[in-house]
Amino acid sequence: MVVAIDGPAGVGKSTLAQWVSDKYGLLNLNSGAFYRAMVVKVLDDGVDANDPEAVAAAAKDAEIDLIEGRIHLNGRDIEDRLRTDHVDQWSSIISTIVPVRHVVNEHLRRVAGTTDLVAEGRDMTTIVFPDAEVKIFLDADSAVRAKRRLDQGTSDMTLEELGNSIRERDRRDRNKSFGALRVAEDAVVVDTSALTLEEVYDKVSGLIETYL
Ligand code: DC
Repeated sequence: MVVAIDGPAGVGKSTLAQWVSDKYGLLNLNSGAFYRAMVVKVLDDGVDANDPEAVAAAAKDAEIDLIEGRIHLNGRDIEDRLRTDHVDQWSSIISTIVPVRHVVNEHLRRVAGTTDLVAEGRDMTTIVFPDAEVKIFLDADSAVRAKRRLDQGTSDMTLEELGNSIRERDRRDRNKSFGALRVAEDAVVVDTSALTLEEVYDKVSGLIETYL
């Protein structure tokens, strides 16, 4: 079974996917982590991140693996380098480069193999796993998402800066020429703006359990 979850930045997809993975024993495939790993590759190689062709060449050269839930780049565990503000911002930019998206999608499908999994990102329901049994579009107001990010305490930005950054990422995500964030025709939209985590879990387990 494949559970595919898409939605904008900061909506809580990773938390939900982790919960689904633990509860139903599914592999947790976080596609954003693969874009973040590409940024680490670009930074480590000293490639100009503003040069799409150079970034695409570096991406093709990257060996990315998921080992016991942690991202490895060319054999090294880089999981702890993926969630900085810097990597956050660059991953949004390099994920607009179409050849980079093709490389990441190949990695995702290879890692997925035939395993039962939960995959989350921007184009899991539309491009990468179009035949997923369960498709969820998780959404929330951008102001709610900025406040949640602030409360996580992992960013150095103010609430206003976080709001601006999230809206800028939304704009990029929705306007990509390939793999843009959109609601798949057969996806269920779950707006979490006014829901507690437990209410979100209830709705999602209801959707998954019809397939078990
Ligand atoms: O979900 P995330 O914030 O970790 O993702 C990092 C960046 O990668 C984000 O700016 C959007 C991009 N991304 C994407 O374009 N497609 C995906 N399937 C997942 C992430």
